[in-house]
Amino acid sequence: MNHSKLKPFPKDFLWGASTSAYQVEGAWDEDEKGLSVIDVGKYPEGTSDFKVASDHYHRYKEDIALFTEMGLKAYRFSIAWTRIYPKGTGEINEKGIAFYNDLINELLSHNIEPIVTMYHFDLPYALQEKGGWSNRETIDAYEKYAKTLFKYFGDRVKYWLTINEQNMMILYGAVLGTVDSKIENPQKKLYQQNHHMFLAQAKAINLCHEMCPNTKIGPAPNIAYVYPASSKPEDILAAQNFSSIRNWLYLDMPVFGRYNSVAWSYMEEKGCTPTIQEGDMEILESAKPDFIAFNYYATSTVAESKNNTSDKNPIGDQQITIGEPGFYRGVANPYLEKTQFGWEIDPIGFRITLRELNDRYNLPLLVTENGLGAYDKLEEGDVVNDDYRIEFLRKHIEQARLAISDGVNLIGYCPWSAIDLVSTHQGFSKRYGFIYVNRDEFDLKDLRRIKKKSFYWYKNVIKSNGQEL
Ligand code: BG6
Repeated sequence: MNHSKLKPFPKDFLWGASTSAYQVEGAWDEDEKGLSVIDVGKYPEGTSDFKVASDHYHRYKEDIALFTEMGLKAYRFSIAWTRIYPKGTGEINEKGIAFYNDLINELLSHNIEPIVTMYHFDLPYALQEKGGWSNRETIDAYEKYAKTLFKYFGDRVKYWLTINEQNMMILYGAVLGTVDSKIENPQKKLYQQNHHMFLAQAKAINLCHEMCPNTKIGPAPNIAYVYPASSKPEDILAAQNFSSIRNWLYLDMPVFGRYNSVAWSYMEEKGCTPTIQEGDMEILESAKPDFIAFNYYATSTVAESKNNTSDKNPIGDQQITIGEPGFYRGVANPYLEKTQFGWEIDPIGFRITLRELNDRYNLPLLVTENGLGAYDKLEEGDVVNDDYRIEFLRKHIEQARLAISDGVNLIGYCPWSAIDLVSTHQGFSKRYGFIYVNRDEFDLKDLRRIKKKSFYWYKNVIKSNGQEL
């Protein structure tokens, strides 16, 4: 639809930016923090670990001062479960509570709305040792952790996100380091874990509504509209197959309290339907999210797969489709360019995804990640000319405005990332931030903060409420 007049961004639009605890904080073993699955995980050769990251734990005041200067209205960050409960459950670590209290208060004193992810990939290792999400006790541990977060921070945090990218943990957990890649019959285990995460999420949603009626809570999957490679009906079916197990499984459950039927038949076919205990479905049906948060990087394109084993790409990640013989085959979209890291770039797909989510679920939408990973270069005079990032974000914001004009109820946009941080599996050289952190993969240098060109650009976008791009 070509609009003759575009609607403006809403007055209270949440212009923000995002990070996650383990990728930005560092201080991996300080102040009684426990180990998470990330801390004991392996890193691909040539990439940094997460021990120091961007040292935000020690520099959060300086960072928030920069966020304030940029004009952020919201900051989406995650709480490290292992700072609150070093062993995942048991005794509260007061130092962890103190840190996040200080962080939240610092944000609020600068009129920045905290948007809190309760769990972003970093499951406590003590829980993993007892089976992690395969063990139903992890649901109880998450519920207890959620209760603690609502009790200590629920008076000030208005937006909660239950679990970051549950779908990516299930589909690409081995790459992201969130599951043990050597487990036997991984799919059977994974879809059982998935069911337990759904239950944990539902319990947290109900608890949040009970304990903090004035706050809002929602899921935060990674959503990508799936294109068929052609108008061939078999390709359309393949696109529906992939979209069901990639996208809709993870939103039909929280919003409607039921398993997506195509995803369920896929699990039946693979022999990996989860065991559902009595009472589980009632819990799942009872919890209703207030909004949908989602991360968008690019669309995905798939074609028919005729049970051919070569239809499975050896490597996949959040945006690179692996494919499943007999279900779908990931293909490149010839109409799209790629980032330096091989992810497709599709701003129009962002509008398409927003429209689809709006039509399917009719809930407010909050974008909690979107951005461009690139090899930025620090030039003489402390300058980073990241025009490519500006272009990427500009095009996505244009499409967000078009989606709003289409009638989508979009309440905020938080690009990834507020500041440079360690990528999930591609180290520190894959940068996303508005603020450059002066370190390399292994040389920590002085970790000083440098405003990139995109910092000044985004500042003006926020100031003009999205009018000046
Ligand atoms: C999302 C994650 O999948 O994508 C983030 O929620 C991640 O944690 C982001 O960093 C970008 O991915 P990557 O792999 O480039 O760091």
